[in-house]
Amino acid sequence: MPRYSKTLIILHWAMAVLILAAWLTSEGGRQVRLNPPALHFSLGLSVLLLVLPRLVARWWGSHPRIEDPQGPWLNLAAKIGHAVLYLFMIGLPLTGWYAASRMGVQVSFFGLSLPSIAAAAQGDPGPIAEIHETGGTVILVLAGLHSVIAFWHQFVLRDGTMQRMNPV
Ligand code: HEM
Ligand code: HEM
Repeated sequence: MPRYSKTLIILHWAMAVLILAAWLTSEGGRQVRLNPPALHFSLGLSVLLLVLPRLVARWWGSHPRIEDPQGPWLNLAAKIGHAVLYLFMIGLPLTGWYAASRMGVQVSFFGLSLPSIAAAAQGDPGPIAEIHETGGTVILVLAGLHSVIAFWHQFVLRDGTMQRMNPV
């Protein structure tokens, strides 16, 4: 069974953990302006930092082809699904950074202060912040669906798909 490169496998699982951790440390009803969730920012920004080398390793390094015995439409669906996950890995941290900047909250990455990417405004932080809040949960639902499909391949179709991402 052809596998993803070690780099891609490590990045895949590291990012799965980071996304879950970012979700778990998201604001959850607390006042972001009064008590900025610094850990949430750092975990989310780690996703943004790692998606770049991941995309480079994906497109310029070796990776197994998606060869699904069920035909071209499912292969296309898998490719689109993976592309959507990549879009979220880029878009979510950026919209979060924008939302924090609109709220006038200092964004830091494990103690390192980062610049704002939008002018601070009083009151409602606007639609990008809302997109971020909703998107933060949507990525979790999509990743959940993605893992169910992976388990389906592994245990129902028994085509060894999971082996391609196996870190050991
Ligand atoms: C994979 C990365 C991320 C995920 C999964 C994620 C997820 C979430 C979720 C689910 C919420 C809503 C929490 C609630 O309604 O109680 C939220 C809120 C927020 N996140 Fe993130 N986030 C990520 C990255 C970031 C980053 C990198 C930043 C800033 C640098 C950030 C800043 C914020 C801010 C400011 C809010 C509050 C928005 C508001 O109250 O309108 N997030 N995030
Ligand atoms: C328990 C959770 C997860 C499992 C079991 C899982 C399993 C897998 C497997 C087996 C593959 C290889 C698919 C193939 O080659 O046809 C894969 C690829 C992928 N996974 Fe996951 N995954 C999980 C979580 C996540 C999360 C949280 C994300 C990001 C939001 C993610 C994003 C991706 C992407 C983008 C690919 C395509 C890799 C590429 O071709 O570049 N996965 N996953």
